[in-house]
Amino acid sequence: MKTFAALAVTAALLGGSLPAAADGVLTASYGGQMTETADGWRIEFVVRDGGIRAWVRDHGGKPVAATGKASLLAGGVKLDVPLKTDGEMLTGTAAVTSADKVAAILSLSVNGKPVSARFAQEALTTPQLSTQASAGKAAFDQVCASCHGQSLRGSDAAPPLLHPFYVPGSGHGDDIILSAATKGAKAHHWKFGDMPKPEGLKPGQEKDVLVYIRAMQAANGLGGSAGMPTSMDHSGHMKH
Ligand code: HEC
Repeated sequence: MKTFAALAVTAALLGGSLPAAADGVLTASYGGQMTETADGWRIEFVVRDGGIRAWVRDHGGKPVAATGKASLLAGGVKLDVPLKTDGEMLTGTAAVTSADKVAAILSLSVNGKPVSARFAQEALTTPQLSTQASAGKAAFDQVCASCHGQSLRGSDAAPPLLHPFYVPGSGHGDDIILSAATKGAKAHHWKFGDMPKPEGLKPGQEKDVLVYIRAMQAANGLGGSAGMPTSMDHSGHMKH
């Protein structure tokens, strides 16, 4: 059974860079929530400031054309949002932000068949911040928020930092966050491309930013590896 062993090793080596993990974990490309429909379509969904995004892919991760609409419930208001195609992405404009509590039902047509999927986002919790975390917030809002979002939930340019990938005890420890804050990072998880070296942090401010990111993660249920499903464990990061 030499061939099997060789395949297993190859799969392990490639594991970190496969678009959708072969072990059945649904991997997002843009930091969004994932669901798999009964027909096997994989749908990724995110709420941005001013609208929503969705991607429909087949079980191999290949983008699939879709049309349709979304019904959102945000702040007690129901919004009907037509979706437009923008490359591989469906976009909808709506009076929501990435910090809001939002419930969404997507009603799509994929290959002429109706497909529906539900998603929900919790409201962002901003905790009482320590002096250092407040300083970190000011620096983050100035230097990082344009890409990672003021809510730390990502944007069309960068992934969410309120994500199991980046919690304490994950593959991305404090050193990885400090390194990204000072030097940038090569694209390796998502499809956003490389993170350039951030402009505008004074030496030492990266530590304040780290304290702020950790405070926001803890306040939003991402306190550490204890709450992280083991399937999210992230061995790809040995490469760092
Ligand atoms: C110009 C846009 C941009 C700015 C500004 C930016 N980032 Fe990023 N960041 C990205 C992108 C894109 C990635 C995703 C790289 C990948 O695919 O893993 C990323 C990834 C990261 C990661 C994960 C790094 C890793 O090695 O996995 C951390 C942590 C991070 N950013 C923190 C920050 C902090 C802190 C700041 C502000 C000091 C910041 N970023 C500013 C675009 C940006």
